[in-house]
Formats: sequence, C-alpha cells, structure tokens
Amino acid sequence: GKGTYPFYMLKEIDEQPAVMRKLSQLYTDDAGNVTVDHAIIDALGQADRIYIIAAGTSYNAGYASKYVLETLTEKPVELGIASEWGYNMPRLSEKPFFIFLSQSGETADSRQVLVKTNELGIPSLTVTNVPGSTLSREASFTMLLHAGPEIAVASTKAYTAQIAALSFLAKAVGQAIGNEAAAAFDIVHELSLVAQSIEATLSEKELIESKVAGLLSDTRNAFYIGRGQDYYVSMEASLKLKEISYIQCEGFAAGELKHGTIALIEEGTPVIALISNNPKVAAHTRGNVSEVVARGAHVITIVEQEAATTEDDIIINNVHPYLSSISMVIPTQLIAYYASLHRGLDVDKPRNLAKSVTVE
Ligand code: M6R
Repeated sequence: GKGTYPFYMLKEIDEQPAVMRKLSQLYTDDAGNVTVDHAIIDALGQADRIYIIAAGTSYNAGYASKYVLETLTEKPVELGIASEWGYNMPRLSEKPFFIFLSQSGETADSRQVLVKTNELGIPSLTVTNVPGSTLSREASFTMLLHAGPEIAVASTKAYTAQIAALSFLAKAVGQAIGNEAAAAFDIVHELSLVAQSIEATLSEKELIESKVAGLLSDTRNAFYIGRGQDYYVSMEASLKLKEISYIQCEGFAAGELKHGTIALIEEGTPVIALISNNPKVAAHTRGNVSEVVARGAHVITIVEQEAATTEDDIIINNVHPYLSSISMVIPTQLIAYYASLHRGLDVDKPRNLAKSVTVE
C-alpha cells in the first residue's frame, strides 16, 4: 500500500535513493566486482551496434543512458521508438544487439519489434522491472531493475533504475573489452553519491513546490530546455508534466529554440532550464535562458552545484556525468507531482492512460 503517502507517485519518488543502493548491492559481488551475466557481456561484446527499443519514459531513459553505453562499450547506440520500429524497421548494422527497455515488460509496441528481431535471429536483452514478463521471456537475456512495484501511472523510479542498470551493463562490457574509462568508473561509489544527491533534493520538496505552485497552476503550456544529457532529461521532464498535469509541454534542445519555437515564448511563459555541470554547454544554455527572459519567459533554473550561481532556483549536488540524468530528473518529477496536485488532479491515475499499454 501507499502507507501515509497521499499518492503512490510521491512514495515511488522517495524510494529512489534506496533503489540506487539496492542495484549496487545486487549488481556487485562481495569483492565489489560488477556481476552482469557473462552470456550477456559476450553477446553484447560481439555486436557492432546497440539498438535500444522502448516507449515513453523508458525511451527517454534509453537516451539518458546512451552516453555511458557508448563511452564504455565503444559501440554506437541507436534509439528506436517501439511503435515506429514495429512497422518501419530501418536498415540495421551487420551485428546488431537489441535492448528492450520496459518497466512492465508487457508493452505491445516493444514486443512487436522483439518478434521481428527474433525472426531475424538477432540477440536481445530485456531490461525490465517485472521478472517473467512477456518481453523477458521472449528475449535472449534479461536484466532486472529491482525497483519494486511501480503503481503510479507516471513512471519515476523505473526511469532512474533503468539508467543505473544500463550503467552497470556499460561498466561490465567496457571492462571486458579493456576500456580504460570503464575500469576507472567506480560505479558503486558514484551511485552512492547519486543516492545522496537525490536525498538532498527530496529534502527540499517545499522549496520546489513553492517555485512551481503559482507558475504551473493555471498555465496552458510550458517548456523544458537543456543541452546534451539535460536535453534528454528535458524530454522526460516534459512527458511527466504533460501526463499528470495536462499542461502542454515540450522538452527542447536549448539551442534549437531560436530556429522557430522561440516564437511561442510570450509574457509569463514558464521555461524550466536544466543545467548540469558540463562546461562544454552550460554557458550556452545560460545564453538561451537570457534569450527567453528577454521575451518575457518566467524561468526556473535547475542547476548542478558546480555550475550554479546564487541566482539559480534549484541546486542539485554534483554527481558523475554518466549519472547526472538520474539526479537532474528528480526535481522535474516533483514539479510534475506538485503541478498535478495544485490543479486538483488524480496524480496516480491520469485520464486516458493505463499503467501498461498492451495494445499497439
Ligand atoms: O512498461 P514500459 O516501460 O514499457 O512502458 C512504457 C511507457 O508506456 C511508459 O513509460 C509511459 O510513458 C509512462 N506512463 C510515462 O510515465
């Protein structure tokens, strides 16, 4: 049950530090070595390209994991929207390896692609929260998310668990192929810092609520912007806000706004900017913030500590760049939660939606 919580979503948001720690326990042995099934490491090691197939939040988690996977496995990662690839499979590489990312393991759109890759004899891995689920049974291999049951329709802890689980996979494969960054990546330590960073953000719920309460209680639209990893987080942040608050929201690559979409910014339009500590892009995102402020946008900034100034609204403890999407997404989950709450909506059961989508 949800205990003293008003909604499952808030309970599941709060569970995320514990899920991070649990994943570290379950994906390492007593000596601290990463324990991903050798058969998975071998099969993936032979591939020339990784394809991640998913829908919704799981698709966004795939994007958030692309950087760590590409860096440590030294293989290109391509994302596929499940409902598209079921009927429009693009030209594949010579030795593809497919990863099906799915909280429920029951998403019909993803299964449709798995049926095709099985026909083609392509090796596959399902990363899911549900042991014995359809996608798990039908793929060559399974990795579990160990996030515990996710009841709220809006997915939160599954997203962060997916990024963590794929980081363990990236580390294991990278080590097996002798990648130096993989050997140097102390994932257990880094995930413990992530858990602490999440806890610090969760202890600031009132601050986050106060920042969005007025801004999002009667707006019709909003934007999330960011670059690099923050762009991927902005896609997830906007999906979450749309899904439970019914505010029309776009996650946008910050630099792309000026190529058309900035026309939508008017007096009071909420724009939430995500700025993690990436020196290559942080200043550019700041520039884009100034552009929308000049056009009347009401901006909230969510910034990693090392990149932050006293002017910023929500400050996030720094974590390893491979994992920054996990800690950066937390305030956006809370923003969606409070926006829904302040609009008097059923946070856990948004209209028109079901927890698992078993139709194509
Ligand atoms: O169970 P899955 O991860 O395969 O589900 C995919 C999407 O239907 C799901 O993530 C959906 O987008 C969520 N309700 C978003 O919060």
